[in-house]
Amino acid sequence: MINIVLFGAPGCGKGTQAQRLKEHYGIDHVSTGEVIRDEIRRGTELGRSMEQYIREGRLAPDEIVIGMIANYVAGHKEAKGCIFDGFPRTTVQAEEFDRILAGHGLKVDIMVDIHVPEEELVKRILLRGKDSGRADDASEEVIRGRLDVYRKQTAVVADYYASQNKYASVDGVGTMDEVFGRIAAVIDGLK
Ligand code: AP5
Repeated sequence: MINIVLFGAPGCGKGTQAQRLKEHYGIDHVSTGEVIRDEIRRGTELGRSMEQYIREGRLAPDEIVIGMIANYVAGHKEAKGCIFDGFPRTTVQAEEFDRILAGHGLKVDIMVDIHVPEEELVKRILLRGKDSGRADDASEEVIRGRLDVYRKQTAVVADYYASQNKYASVDGVGTMDEVFGRIAAVIDGLK
């Protein structure tokens, strides 16, 4: 089993690359952002409690997101592997994630950090925003706020994995095929 944390700022291409990696390696993919958006679409109590965080581009509370991932891992223990997209996003989440995985005899194998300069990130999300219908893509102000949250609360999670020798950074600028090739080279290098 191989567990990959796909990491990087909003708009760096996590979702795009996760789809490709899922098909290429025949492993699962879970995006905490998607799980939250699905709860909102279905109008669940959990979804309603998440709406404001998403709209304002703030992180959802750790305990809620950790609970979502704990459920997911418990239900997918038999998978060949999994791409965790958008999780963990705080050091507390990373520490709890290790505990959850260890409880099932599992571990994170590698964090792949997709690096893209900030102005390119803003450009990509603004472009997507026209069609995505995502509340957090609607204005440049919210997009820049998400990048700020990433810098202040999330970027530090890279250090957590680097200190365990489980960190790789790839250049996220180039065609989607080029970026995929760089990520696949990291994963294939683990075998
Ligand atoms: P989440 O859904 O995780 O969104 P995000 O991190 O803001 O990232 P995006 O989905 O915007 O971008 P991406 O990196 O997936 O890039 P994509 O492939 O789409 O989180 C949303 C919210 O949920 C958070 O703000 C928070 O509120 C909450 N949340 C989620 N997880 C949480 C957690 N763990 N804890 C607390 N709260 C949490 O690509 C972007 C665009 O660029 C696309 O249009 C794509 O086509 C294009 N593109 C991709 N690759 C390239 C390329 N190589 N060249 C040019 N364009 C490209």
